[in-house]
Amino acid sequence: MVLSGKRILLIISGGIAAYKSLDLIRRLRERGASVRPVMTAGAQQFVTPLAVGALAADHVFTDLFSRQDEQDVGHIRLARDCDLVLVAPATADLLAKMANGLADDLASTVLLATDRPVLVAPAMNPHMWNHAATKRNVATLKGDGIRFIGPMAGEMAESREAGVGRMAEPLEIVAAAEALLDTSPKPLAGRKAIVTSGPTHEPIDPVRYIANRSSGRQGHAIAAALAKLGADVTLVSGPVSIADPAGVSTVHVERAEEMRDAVLTALPADIAVMVAAVADWRVASASDQKIKKHPGESIPTLALTENPDILKTIGHHTMRPKLVIGFAAETQDVDNNAKAKLTRKGADIIVANDVSPATGIMGGVRNRVKIVSHNGIEQWPDMAKDEVASKLAALIADRFRQG
Ligand SMILES: Cc1cc2nc3c(=O)[nH]c(=O)nc-3n(C[C@H](O)[C@H](O)[C@H](O)COP(=O)(O)O)c2cc1C
Repeated sequence: MVLSGKRILLIISGGIAAYKSLDLIRRLRERGASVRPVMTAGAQQFVTPLAVGALAADHVFTDLFSRQDEQDVGHIRLARDCDLVLVAPATADLLAKMANGLADDLASTVLLATDRPVLVAPAMNPHMWNHAATKRNVATLKGDGIRFIGPMAGEMAESREAGVGRMAEPLEIVAAAEALLDTSPKPLAGRKAIVTSGPTHEPIDPVRYIANRSSGRQGHAIAAALAKLGADVTLVSGPVSIADPAGVSTVHVERAEEMRDAVLTALPADIAVMVAAVADWRVASASDQKIKKHPGESIPTLALTENPDILKTIGHHTMRPKLVIGFAAETQDVDNNAKAKLTRKGADIIVANDVSPATGIMGGVRNRVKIVSHNGIEQWPDMAKDEVASKLAALIADRFRQG
C-alpha cells in the first residue's frame, strides 16, 4: 500500500487521453491516495472540472489568477503540499513548456515551482512524439530528473493511427507512481530472477490445442513480489488472460519448447522460479492444416511426445542459478512426489500444492502450499496467491542474506 496516505497533485493537460484521467483518479484513490487536480484550459475542452472534482472529491484548480484560490492555497503551496506531481496526460505543448521553464498558466507555473518528484505520462499523435522538437524536450526533461511512464505503442483514440504516442493505461501509471514513491528495503537489488507462469498451449492443428487450467495468477504474483524487493525480473508467460505485472519484463510464449528457449535466453540469473504448468507432452506431429471431419472415416488418434523438462534443464544447467525453485502441482501423495522432484530436478526448493479439483487452487485466487527443501517440509496456511508470493519472495531474500 505504497500510495496509502500519499498526496498526489494531478495535472491534466489538453489531450484526448484526458478521459482516462477520470479512471486514473479512481485508481489512485482506491489505493488510499488523495488527488488534488489541476487542469489546463485545454484539458477542460476534453473533460469537465465537475467530473474531475467529483471523482477526486476536491477542488479543481484551473486558474493562476484566481484571487480565491491564491488566498486559499496559493500556487506555491499547491506545488509543494504533495508527495508527487503527476502529469497525465502530458501534451507535447506542456512538455515543451516544462523543458523551457515557461510558466504562463497554473499547470506550468506549478511545475516550475515544485520541489517534489514529477512523473509524466505523455500522450500525443505519433508524429508529435517523434518530432525532433519533442525529442529534444524529452531529453532535456529526463536530464532534469523528470520521470516518464510511456507513451505506449498502439492505436490512437481519435485518428486510429498506429505508433508510439498512446498514454499508458491508468494501472500502469499507478504502478509507476508506486515504484517512484516506494521507499521499502530492496534486499534483492542487483539480483536477476527468471519466473515462468501460466499454462502452455500445445497445438494439435492451427486452431486446436492441448492446455491446462493454470491462470498464471501465482507466477505473475511471484514475479511482481520479487520485483518489489528490487530484483530484475524476466517473466516468461504462457497464454493467460491477466495483465503483465508492472516493473517486470514479460516475454510471451505459447508452447513448452518456446518457454524453454525464452528461459535459456534469459540466463544467467541468480534466481529461477518455475511456476508455469508446462505440458508434459505435446502432439508428436501437429498438423499444418485444420484436421477435417469426414463422415464415415475413423476418429483420429493423437500420438504424443515428451516436452522438454524446463525445471530439470535449469536445475542441471552449467549456468544454473544459485537458487532454483520449482512448483509441483499434485493431486495425490503430495509430500513424497515433491521430495522425489527435489532431487530429480536439481532444485533447492519445491513449492508443492494439492490441485485436486476440490481445492479450487488451479485457476483460483488462493493457494495452500508446502515448502519442500533439503531442510524438511513446511506447511503454509491457506493464503491469497499474492500473499504466498510475498512470503516466498521474503524467503528468497532471506536465503541470499544468509549467503
Ligand atoms: C481533438 C484534439 C485532440 C488533441 N489531442 C492531443 C493529444 O493527445 N496530445 C497533445 O499533445 N495535444 C493534443 N491536442 C492539441 C492540444 O490540445 C493543444 O496543443 C493545446 O494547446 C494543449 O494545451 P495544454 O498543454 O495547455 O493543455 C489535441 C487537440 C485537439 C483539437
